[in-house]
Amino acid sequence: MLETILEMQHITKSFPGVKALDDVHFDLKSGEIHALMGENGAGKSTFIKIITGVHRPDSGDLLLDGKPVDINGPLDAQARGIAAIYQHVTCFPDLSVAENIFMGHEKVVSAAKRIDWRAMNQAAAELLSQLDANFDCRAVMGTLSVAQQQIVEIAKALSTNARIIIMDEPTAPLSSRECEDLYRITEGLKQKGVGVIFISHRFEDMYRLADRVTVFRDGKYINSWNVKEVDEHALVLAMVGREIVQFFPKRDTAPGEEIFRVEGLSRTGFFKDVSFSVRKGEILALTGLVGAGRTEVCEAVYGVTPYDSGTITLGGKDLQHTAVSKSIACGIGYLPEDRLKQGLVLRWEIAKNISLSALEKFIRNGWIDRDKENSTAGELAEKLKVKAVSVHDKVSTLSGGNQQKVIVAKLLTADMKVIILDEPTKGVDVGAKTAIYTIMNDLVAMGYGIIMVSSEMPEVLGMSNRIVVMRDGRVTAEFETKNATQEKILRAAMRE
Ligand SMILES: Nc1ncnc2c1ncn2[C@@H]1O[C@H](COP(=O)(O)OP(=O)(O)OP(=O)(O)O)[C@@H](O)[C@H]1O
Ligand SMILES: [Mg+2]
Repeated sequence: MLETILEMQHITKSFPGVKALDDVHFDLKSGEIHALMGENGAGKSTFIKIITGVHRPDSGDLLLDGKPVDINGPLDAQARGIAAIYQHVTCFPDLSVAENIFMGHEKVVSAAKRIDWRAMNQAAAELLSQLDANFDCRAVMGTLSVAQQQIVEIAKALSTNARIIIMDEPTAPLSSRECEDLYRITEGLKQKGVGVIFISHRFEDMYRLADRVTVFRDGKYINSWNVKEVDEHALVLAMVGREIVQFFPKRDTAPGEEIFRVEGLSRTGFFKDVSFSVRKGEILALTGLVGAGRTEVCEAVYGVTPYDSGTITLGGKDLQHTAVSKSIACGIGYLPEDRLKQGLVLRWEIAKNISLSALEKFIRNGWIDRDKENSTAGELAEKLKVKAVSVHDKVSTLSGGNQQKVIVAKLLTADMKVIILDEPTKGVDVGAKTAIYTIMNDLVAMGYGIIMVSSEMPEVLGMSNRIVVMRDGRVTAEFETKNATQEKILRAAMRE
């Protein structure tokens, strides 16, 4: 029998206007990986922040090793052996890896009270080698990939001798190979007797890693299962609270004439001779493994980054562009993959964020028509099921997935001909996925052409008309979706 290290009972937490957690309970054993799942805004991150002392519960008990404790802030949580890797990396980008690992518990030469760099770097190097890291402890944090930064966060957790490690959607920004590394590291933590709480919207993560899974819905505890004894259908039902009959909504539009073409696009070191086209009312899926160069191609097409040769034509006209402003003026829209870095003004309300990309539509007699702004924002927020008290809520108070929905809504207010969506449903829950698919169908029915970058096979097969596969910066295959299979796509995506 594994022993229970953490128990949470009757936890309740309200923010102005929402009960984020309503009498939930949870327990974690040492040497266990316990997955926590639920829709966007279900209360998962809030729950984690109570364990790590960021938030205080309004009521309820937290027991460590069977004893009730009060956690007085993050440092107290750290001292009690609790560590978290948050949904959005929270490092100090200008400091070194070692400094990040030992931030707050630096190693000092006791006599002189100064930082003992040698000891710190040595200890950091040791932790990194335990985790098989392929970078140096003196590297500057900001130069590392997100996956590497996560490894630093885990090293930091180990440096504080954490017995409870919480990971909030760690796999969302990772490639499949990086996920494998994280799985291995997480398994290693479990072998050491650490208890891990793992939050993810991906079923694959849960089946690969977790021993148990608990579902929250609308701030309430729904149920817990041994992962071996529960199937995906039962979990979706628990999370969403109703049957999802049609995950990929049906579309009746047939594609029309070609409106957008990329021909022989190359950028040395990134991609070579990439060609594809999109028709009106068509969804073209651009797929491949993470790192195949899809995002780089989209950035070049949109004018974020330059390209060396090739042509981009919209409605038969050569765009010859390398500027985002020109793309927008021509009617090309772009939903970037890295959504939090671009796009949202966190301290602004939802409505203002949504209208920002098409302000001219909301201007009347030189003033912003707030009523129109609010009603447009309200409609889109409702369509996408943004969980908020009202469109006047600050974006910073929304859950991670709901912030993403606001970015999608923002894109939809502008008038576009072609929209590039880079991983449009990453980080959003199952119910919201279907809502986003429905909106994509509405857009193609209006004659938009959509380029959807996606690594999720069911989404690629379920939503597109045609599929272009990339590998190592080149196009390796193109299929009509009706002739495509997962196996054919994977074969084209992987190196033989
Ligand atoms: N600081 C805050 N102020 C006001 N409301 C908040 C705050 N933090 C969270 N909330 C609200 O609490 C609810 C739960 O949010 P939480 O971030 O815990 O969701 P989540 O389950 O982590 O969702 P996701 O999967 O999208 O990350 C949401 O309605 C959110 O808007
Ligand atoms: Mg969250």
